[in-house]
Amino acid sequence: MKRIEEVSPKVTPELYSKIYEFWSNNVNSEKIYGSLVTNSERGSEQYFQELESQRYRSHRHLLPWIHSMKPGKTVLEIGCGIGLDSYQLVKHGMKLTAIDLTNIAIEIASSRFKASNIEGNFFIGDATSLQFDDNSFDYVYSFGVLHHVQDTEKAIIEVYRVLKQGGIAKVMLYNLHSLNELIHRLTLTPFEDKNELCPVVRRFSKKEASRLFYKFNRIDIKKDFVYGEGYGRLFKYTPLWLYKKLSSIAGWHLMITAYK
Ligand SMILES: C[S@@+](CC[C@H](N)C(=O)[O-])C[C@H]1O[C@@H](n2cnc3c(N)ncnc32)[C@H](O)[C@@H]1O
Repeated sequence: MKRIEEVSPKVTPELYSKIYEFWSNNVNSEKIYGSLVTNSERGSEQYFQELESQRYRSHRHLLPWIHSMKPGKTVLEIGCGIGLDSYQLVKHGMKLTAIDLTNIAIEIASSRFKASNIEGNFFIGDATSLQFDDNSFDYVYSFGVLHHVQDTEKAIIEVYRVLKQGGIAKVMLYNLHSLNELIHRLTLTPFEDKNELCPVVRRFSKKEASRLFYKFNRIDIKKDFVYGEGYGRLFKYTPLWLYKKLSSIAGWHLMITAYK
């Protein structure tokens, strides 16, 4: 029977390996709703540029969010995937350390940095048990990742731990009260791959998300991204003012800035 992912899946011992397997087989950004974005060879500069231009066309709010960070500061990116935002963070002047759960993501992301002679430290790592000391980074950045980990609450405690006092977390989590949630429920289309259920796709209300960041001094949450290029003509022809209005009411992305 067709169904979508549970809002709050239970944490089980098998979950970790299921998550690892899913993200090793579904390298993020390569597909939109099952269709390949690029036919260029994986890891070639052409591949990165094609994925990058689709990503920032569709996610209009993303580059301004990255550019809101102070250049010259250290940033830990959690769940970098193939490193598209990692590349933008470094272009913006951040000192980057990035981790991802899967070998394949780290191989692809770091290969671009090596080929272009750009500095960045990449490691395999787990968001729920980070390999870094307390108070290590000025920023922690994580886009579209912490709702996919086995235990989101634990991951956010880790974000807090590795941030310096006065440091800032910039985290995107999926919004339960969104148009996208409604459409996926009505059409019974899974969220990450239309033919397969992703093991963990948690969705949070704004209130639930802010509770997760309870250790922080101050939290600011804005909704954005009511829909992206996957919605075809609707995305292309919605006037920008209307798109922004709808996004602030029923956006799929909770854009969280939390201050330690
Ligand atoms: C939807 S992708 C997002 C990737 C990237 N941030 C982006 O926006 O393109 C989710 C990523 O989270 C990674 N991931 C899942 N669980 C993780 C964990 N426990 N620790 C670190 N990374 C994890 C996956 O391997 C995958 O690369």
